Amino acid sequence: TRVEKAGYKHFMAKEIAEQPVVLGDALRHYLRPEGVNLPAELDFSGLERLTLVACGTAFYACSVAKYWFEQLAGLPCEIDVASEFRYREPPLPAKSYAVFVSQSGETADTLAALRYCTEKVQKTIAVVNVPTSSIAREADLALPILAGVEVGVASTKAFTCQLLALAVMALKAGIDRGHLSPDQLAGHLETLRALPGLMNAALSTSDEIAKLAGQLAEAQDILFLGRGPMYPLALEGALKLKEISYIHAEGYASGELKHGPIALIDRMVPVIVLAPHDRLFDKTVSNMQEVMARHGKVLLITDGKGIATAAEGTWASLRLPEVAEPFAPILYALPAQLLAYHTAIAKGTDVDQPRNLAKSVTVE
Ligand code: G6P
Repeated sequence: TRVEKAGYKHFMAKEIAEQPVVLGDALRHYLRPEGVNLPAELDFSGLERLTLVACGTAFYACSVAKYWFEQLAGLPCEIDVASEFRYREPPLPAKSYAVFVSQSGETADTLAALRYCTEKVQKTIAVVNVPTSSIAREADLALPILAGVEVGVASTKAFTCQLLALAVMALKAGIDRGHLSPDQLAGHLETLRALPGLMNAALSTSDEIAKLAGQLAEAQDILFLGRGPMYPLALEGALKLKEISYIHAEGYASGELKHGPIALIDRMVPVIVLAPHDRLFDKTVSNMQEVMARHGKVLLITDGKGIATAAEGTWASLRLPEVAEPFAPILYALPAQLLAYHTAIAKGTDVDQPRNLAKSVTVE
């Protein structure tokens, strides 16, 4: 089937806008009223470790999921980019699963990493968008992310659907391992079910973001900061921006700012702070104030409570609906994508076909 832009200027814009719908589809597939719907053979109870391997945006989905598997299931997690994992001869414990996340299911390094694990007799699980792909076929178990065809080179809806599939796996791990009470599970299911509605509200920040993009497009360097599971989202935000706007961007853990990147801060450097009003919020705000004291241009992305307590003195702030921990990255991905999109539009770059990049990298 041929995929059309359906009235949107770019596939990327269409794919960003589709997220409430495709995430809703994925939720219907993976959630049941009382729990999660995953194959029984996916049993996390006796595991010593989980290994998650991917490239690019899919790797940042793994990086977010590490926080979830550790916090929700007490399961130690190792993450790596496939190009490193496949050559560093990592020892693999007997009681562990290896998870490979890939939109295309054809990325050469990820496929090679999967084959390495198969040789070492690991149970392998693929989290893929293309169910007929090599990675899906070669893994012991393949879980679809159900994002639908993604055409834009910069991954958007596949990222949030990867996060959802991994969140559901982390919940199953939490149940299997006796780490989550039925009440806690019910609360997390409710948070996930609310996401499509919250995503619609997040998409409505698009016009506001478009107005900020003119100034962002003039920057040479942009920093993204986050803490906890928002840290890997900061990495993804920076990747998205550099992929399509060609502006140098870096993601940093908020607490690492003082160990180097703060030296870059001046009036010319926008700093995007991804900070829901969670238990780490005050710490992130104090990092943000260090930036403002050095005249950095802060864009704070937070919720109503965060705006009320910390927006003063920032260059700009964006208000998202409240979302319970630890799934905020699934929602905050949307403004990060929109920032990259509108900044690229302001720069006049080719959003759907950025220079030098390919949708699927099937050579090493
Ligand atoms: C390429 C794409 C990225 C993608 C990465 C991994 O670099 O441009 O958007 O995140 O490959 O692709 P995969 O298909 O394995 O998720």
